[in-house]
Amino acid sequence: MANSIEETIRQLREDINYHNHRYYVLNKPDISDFEFDQLMKHLQKLEEEHPEWQDANSPTSRVGSDLTTEFEEVAHKYPMLSLSNTYSIEELYDWDKRIKKSISSAWHYACELKYDGASISLTYQNGRFIRAVTRGDGTKGDDVSVNVKTIKSIPLQLTGNDYPDEFEMRGEIFMTHEGFKKLNDERIANNETPFANPRNSASGTLKMQNPALVAKRPLDCFVYSMLGDELPTQNHYDNLQKAREWGLKVPEHISVVDNIEQVVSFINYWDKKRHDLPYDIDGIVIKVNEFPIQEQLGFTAKSPRWATSYKFKAEQVETKLLSIDYQVGRTGAITPVANLEPVLLAGTTVKRASLHNADQIQLLDIRIFDQVFVEKGGEIIPKVVGVNMNKRETDSRKVDYITHCPECNTELIRHSGEAKHYCPNETGCPPQQKGKLIHFVTRKAMDIGLAEATTEQLFNHGLVKNIADFYTLRIDQLLKLERFAEKSADNLIKSIEKSKEIPFPNVLYALGIRYIGETVAKKIAQHFKSIDALMNADYNQLIEVEEIGDKIAQSLLDYFSKPANIEIINNLKEAGVQLSMEAVTEKENTSDKLVGKNFVISGTFSKFSRNQLKELIEENGGKNVGSISGKTSYVLAGENMGPNKYEKATNLNIPIITEDDFLNMIK
Ligand code: IVH
Repeated sequence: MANSIEETIRQLREDINYHNHRYYVLNKPDISDFEFDQLMKHLQKLEEEHPEWQDANSPTSRVGSDLTTEFEEVAHKYPMLSLSNTYSIEELYDWDKRIKKSISSAWHYACELKYDGASISLTYQNGRFIRAVTRGDGTKGDDVSVNVKTIKSIPLQLTGNDYPDEFEMRGEIFMTHEGFKKLNDERIANNETPFANPRNSASGTLKMQNPALVAKRPLDCFVYSMLGDELPTQNHYDNLQKAREWGLKVPEHISVVDNIEQVVSFINYWDKKRHDLPYDIDGIVIKVNEFPIQEQLGFTAKSPRWATSYKFKAEQVETKLLSIDYQVGRTGAITPVANLEPVLLAGTTVKRASLHNADQIQLLDIRIFDQVFVEKGGEIIPKVVGVNMNKRETDSRKVDYITHCPECNTELIRHSGEAKHYCPNETGCPPQQKGKLIHFVTRKAMDIGLAEATTEQLFNHGLVKNIADFYTLRIDQLLKLERFAEKSADNLIKSIEKSKEIPFPNVLYALGIRYIGETVAKKIAQHFKSIDALMNADYNQLIEVEEIGDKIAQSLLDYFSKPANIEIINNLKEAGVQLSMEAVTEKENTSDKLVGKNFVISGTFSKFSRNQLKELIEENGGKNVGSISGKTSYVLAGENMGPNKYEKATNLNIPIITEDDFLNMIK
């Protein structure tokens, strides 16, 4: 019996790995998402029932643990060097000439795309994924394995049997345009600052401290070279083909060519075609393909002589600036947007481009009817980068930056140190009002589950002007609106009613006070315990709280100084929304006993689940961290503690405590 369950677990893992590879690497799934989910659920259930067959590389580990992680610094076995680069074809010919001078035998060039993301080094031992380390300073980087394991195109177990015992794959972690757009749409809907471009969002995500959040981000990974003491072949290209056989995601667009002229053709082809790719590239990488020749050429201090990169210039066009619109964001930030004479740029017709802010317009001396240069750089939205002064006409007109909000006519303000102007009319400016409503109903806030368009509909019909108005909505009002039927109206009212159970920290976040994100809201709620205490706190009391600095304190004081906000809070209170932590503070386990202590939990426990233990640690002031380092205070060990963790804790002299030891500590 036992054996057959172990066998089922093994088979499920193998099947899931196979389907992950088909879906995320080959783009050719052969089962439905539903069937895949069923396999996953089956495996999760068996693993929960049989912790004795836990495996750190099981596909279930990809969902990412909720533990916060401190990354450990790891030395690279082979340094992660950079590449020389050039923007000029002439310099590329010079590079080829230098190679010709020192090499007498024949060689080839492998031409590849230069993926625009964050570099990563993946170590495999006996076919198993061991760790992923960032580039760092080139000699040592951060061990981000817990995050990288959530990327489903990276195999945790290789297929085949001819891989070396130990080797590294170097690659690039990136986000596709589609994934990036989806992520940013979500961020905007949640009132979070959108990422500037896919590269920033990929590298930012990689360094996030919560792997469970990383797992929700659409990261992907291409591998572009193999390193090791015993590699399968003597040339770069064939090694990559081997890596593909083992299940790694090796991009299709690689060409092995005979000479520099063919390299230039490859470059010219991709300079035009790159806009059709579903991800960003910023150039072409050229590598001498044969390892013996690479060895002869060697390295300079920073980069190999056998490889270089050609970078594409950001494409620029010239067109006429017709007028300027001013957009008001959900936070009240004003963005000037140029209306342009339509022009073709990087494969799309551009009619509008960002002008950033008032300073930028002044700095570049941009005037209406000027011929301006427009560029599509790393950012998705094109921007105006300069003026062709030679073509300035006498009818050009200086830009009078607006002084009042185009939506509500309130005088704009500019916070010191910030480049953007803001409309301060938070409660009466339509885009800001709508923004607050949309934020209020999101999952991490009140979780009311209302689509943006429906929220706007409620606002436009005057049914909900501020967040407290949700609690006055009646079915008969909803039924008069398009898209609402008996059932949907009833569901909405129920869901609003249910939101009254949402705990105080989320409610505080839901208020949409500037700079009060999810984490800060939690800290503030834990400190002040109620909205009344928070409202009565002065500047000094506010900045006493960890995480609250001058900016946040000012923002809170500002918010509570406005009568309209106080009225909203009173109405929320009256509706029965949770505006204090009462229920939580009464918990008998809460204390400060573990303040300043970092815990790593490993293994399975008898009295409490791992999640309960994590909660106990936090409720008593301690911190959960994902991996053992010099900063770890205790390892809380249960049955089947991982051998690596045991060894590491012992080496670093970190006390390993049992569940009972721990419970005694907080008694
Ligand atoms: S090979 C010895 N190939 O470009 C250097 N790098 O400085 C080996 N990159 O951040 C690098 N695509 O992550 C190589 N096809 C490719 C690449 C590539 C992107 C990145 C790399 C690093 C930078 C090189």
